[in-house]
Amino acid sequence: MAERRKSMHGEWSSRWVFIMAATGSAVGLGNIWKFPYITGENGGGAFVLLYLLCIAIIGIPIMMAEILIGRRGRQSPINTMATLAKEASHSPHWKFLGWSGVVAGFLILSYYSVIAGWALSYVFRSAGGSFDGASADEVGAIFDGLLASPESLLAWHTIFIVMTMMVVARGVRHGLEKAIRFLMPTLFMLLLILVGYALNTGAFSQGLEFLFSPDFSKLSQDSVLVAMGHAFFTLSLGMGAIMIYGSYVPHKASITGTTFYIAGADTMVALVAGMAIFPIVFANGLEPGAGPGLIFVTLPIAFGQMPGGLFFGTLFFVLIVFAAWSSAISLIEPAITWLVENKGMKRATASIGAGIVTWFVGVGTVLSFNLWSGYKLFDKTFFDLLDYLTANIMLPLGGLMIAVFAGWIMTKQATQEELHMHDHFGYRMWRFLVRYVTPLGVTVVFLNAIGVI
Ligand code: PFF
Repeated sequence: MAERRKSMHGEWSSRWVFIMAATGSAVGLGNIWKFPYITGENGGGAFVLLYLLCIAIIGIPIMMAEILIGRRGRQSPINTMATLAKEASHSPHWKFLGWSGVVAGFLILSYYSVIAGWALSYVFRSAGGSFDGASADEVGAIFDGLLASPESLLAWHTIFIVMTMMVVARGVRHGLEKAIRFLMPTLFMLLLILVGYALNTGAFSQGLEFLFSPDFSKLSQDSVLVAMGHAFFTLSLGMGAIMIYGSYVPHKASITGTTFYIAGADTMVALVAGMAIFPIVFANGLEPGAGPGLIFVTLPIAFGQMPGGLFFGTLFFVLIVFAAWSSAISLIEPAITWLVENKGMKRATASIGAGIVTWFVGVGTVLSFNLWSGYKLFDKTFFDLLDYLTANIMLPLGGLMIAVFAGWIMTKQATQEELHMHDHFGYRMWRFLVRYVTPLGVTVVFLNAIGVI
C-alpha cells in the first residue's frame, strides 16, 4: 500500500475514544429536539419506519465510507478528497465535495446554535422554578415569550457560539472528551426516567402506537425526503464531520464494528426520546405536529409535575446543551482543519474567524422566529429554508457523492485495506451498497420529492 499517512492534528488515543467522540457528534439536538418534532409533523409510525430504513441501508454504509476515507487521507476533508482522488488517478476536483461539506457545516451550526440557545435558557428557567406545577398553557406561553424576544435569543446564541469555539480552539481531542464520557450515559438515564414518567401519564400506549404503528396514508409528499435527510443529519453524515473524526482513528481500529455501535446508540437515543415525549403530548391534549417547539412545550410539563422535577429538569437541559455542544464542535472541525492546513492559521485564530461568520448567519435564524417571521419563501422562514436546504438536500447529496467516491473512485484494494476486510461477504455487501443501493436510493428519494416518480 501507499505509505501510511499521519494526521498533523493528532490521533485519538484509542478506538473507544473515537466511538465516544463520534457518538458525541451524532447524538445531539437531532435526536432529542428534531426527531420527535418531525415525527410528529409527518404522522408518526410510517415516518419512523422510513427513517430506520434509511439509517440501515444508506446511513450505515456511508458512515463506514466516511470513516475509511478520513483515515486513509488523514487531512481536512477538502485535502483528503484531493489526495485520495489523485492517488486513484482521478481529478483533484473532488475536493469540491469537501468544500460543500464545509459550507453545510457553517450553515447548520448557524441555526443549531440558536436552538441550543433555547436549551441553555431552559436550564435557567428550570432551575429558577418557572415550570414548577406549570400547565401546558403556561409552559407554551414561556416558550412563545422566548421566541418573541430577539435580544434573548441572540444572547443565548452568542453564548453557545463562544462555548463551541472555546473547545474547538483547544482541539477536539483535548476538549469535551472527558465530559462526554459520563454525560452521555447520564443523558440516556434521564431519558429513561422520563419514559418512566410517561408510563404513568395514561397515554403511554397511545404514544407508542403513534411512534410504532405505521400508517402510510399519513405521509406527505415530502415525508420520504425528510426521513432520509434526517438519517444523514442525525448520524452527522454527508458533510465531512465523521470523515474528519475518522482521520484521527488509529490504524488498527475496526471501522465496521465501530460504525454499528455509533449508529445503534444514536438510534436508541432518538427512539427513547420519542417514547418519553409522545405520551406527554397526548396526555396533555397537545398537538404532535406542533413543530420545532415540541420538546420545549412538552417536557417542562413533565418536570413541573414529577417529584424532584426541579433537579431532573435542570439536569436534563444541561445534558441537552452538552449533547448539542459535542455535535457543534464536529460541525466546524472540517473548516478549522482546512484553515490550519492551508492557511497556516493557529487553531485559536481559525476558531475565532469561523465563530464570527457563523454568528452572523445565525442572526437570520434568530430573527426568523420574530421580526422576520412574516418573510417567507416557498412558505418557509429563513430558519425553515436553511434547515431544509442543509438536512434534506446538501447532506444527502454530499453522502451520495461520498458513496460514489468510496465505491467507484477509490480502488478496491484501498477500501479493503482500510476496512481490514478481504473479499468476503461483509465486504462485498458493503461495496454493493455504496456502489448501487445508496446512490440509487438517494436519487430515487430526490426524484420522488420533486414529483418525477
Ligand atoms: N448529528 C447531530 C445531531 O443529531 O444533533 C447534528 C450534526 C452534527 C449534523 C454534525 C451534521 C454534522 F456534521
